[in-house]
Amino acid sequence: MKAIIDVRNRGAKIDRHVYGHFSEHLGRCIYGGYWVGEDSKIPNVRGIRSDIVEAMKAIKVPNIRWPGGCFADDYHWMDGIGPKTERIPIVNVHWGGVLENNHFGTHEFMDLCEQIGCEAYICGNVGSGTVREMRDWIEYLTDDGQSPMAQLRRKNGRDKAWNVKFFGIGNENWGCGGYMEAEYYAHEYRRYATYVRNYKDMGKTDWWKTPQIIRIAGGANAENIEWTETLMRKIPVSLMGGLSVHCYVGPGEESHGTVFTEKSWYATAVNALKKEKWIKQHINIMDYYDPEKKVILAVDEWGIWVNNEPGTPPGYLYQQNTMRSALCAALMFHIFHKYSDRIRLANLAQTINVLQAIILTEGEKMIKTPTYHVFDLYKGHQDADFIPITWEEEPEKIEQSLPHVDISASINSQGTINITLVNISASNNAIGSLIFGRETPVKAAGRILHGEVTAHNTFDNPDNVAPEEFKGFGIKDGKIDFDLPPCAIVSMEVETA
Ligand code: AHR
Repeated sequence: MKAIIDVRNRGAKIDRHVYGHFSEHLGRCIYGGYWVGEDSKIPNVRGIRSDIVEAMKAIKVPNIRWPGGCFADDYHWMDGIGPKTERIPIVNVHWGGVLENNHFGTHEFMDLCEQIGCEAYICGNVGSGTVREMRDWIEYLTDDGQSPMAQLRRKNGRDKAWNVKFFGIGNENWGCGGYMEAEYYAHEYRRYATYVRNYKDMGKTDWWKTPQIIRIAGGANAENIEWTETLMRKIPVSLMGGLSVHCYVGPGEESHGTVFTEKSWYATAVNALKKEKWIKQHINIMDYYDPEKKVILAVDEWGIWVNNEPGTPPGYLYQQNTMRSALCAALMFHIFHKYSDRIRLANLAQTINVLQAIILTEGEKMIKTPTYHVFDLYKGHQDADFIPITWEEEPEKIEQSLPHVDISASINSQGTINITLVNISASNNAIGSLIFGRETPVKAAGRILHGEVTAHNTFDNPDNVAPEEFKGFGIKDGKIDFDLPPCAIVSMEVETA
């Protein structure tokens, strides 16, 4: 196989926000994950675990979506502010009926984002909340003036308003977020979104038309095209910064995190790559109603969803993470890159101890999963310009008609070309070449993540799957020849002349 990477064909910038995360009040994502409390022996800053913050900084996490998910449309933000001893506990009805003590609320979430250095993506409550409640939350978060909510925030210890980059107007409002029909939700959206105001520019002419907060409409599951069509038809583009879509990938068989067949490895690749077809359909509709591509497509929940680990509480969605999960992440990123002119936000579900987590914890122990390492290998793509791949010789087909190799490329502002390659075959090496338009590669370095399809990290063996230097390539006659071992994900940085 011979792939052509020609920088003259560069596409849209790959927004760093497609490398975002999603953290819900679910299982041990928040409590037992980020949040250990100020009095914990586990090193923390104001209750937030420092090893997790460090790990997330290292992969340049650009944003976190919070507090849900389904939890968002049952969350009343005022329960989670003020002195912790006075916060009223609630029952987390979606996720195991456990008591939620509200110790992790608005201030703690914004502190987390500040410690990591990332943007906040807050999801508001449409299903069981009110317009006033949402309006007041925005005022509390973002008003630097003398409004009642700004004063309340100051009383609770925070003088300066925060920045909120993204705000979701509900979540899955066709399901757990209120079982609404698309037309009904579109009307609700228009009303709620009107009050998600831009406090920063207040006083300027037409200030309400240019909200700094990017308002995201609650979207469909990937297969529900009608939802997207109705929302795009019914909601003016000027009122909508983004439209969400959720893309969960099935493993093709009943399996939990680590016990599955090789068939499931391939089925996961098939199911991940199939998402492109659906994503394209959402994009076609958006292109029709918004040809200038002002509204971003936000894949704000995505990832592999398998059975819970045996013995863990059913409502906690705790799953182990293997090379199969890493494969899913790598292929999904390649799709996001390809549509970087429209997909400008995405959030992996979910950061810690839930679904396709990047981090697992057990008491004071913390491990990074294979999926974490994909985010690490791929971070060079953040804010780089997408370069579409063309083929001088296409990769041969393997099991289930999959391509042997999947490749994505980008070029950053310094002219470095980032290339990520996935060998989808679980049993055969992939041998091929990278050809560069007019440029000649002069220097390259690479890292590789590989192992058996079920390979994973445990608390006793935390670095079983971890990136190593990739040596399986050579620069020759103006091209790069590569030899990838089976079941491998590689990232390369190439300098050209
Ligand atoms: O990520 C778990 C759940 O999946 C979310 O709460 C919901 O939005 C989706 O159905």
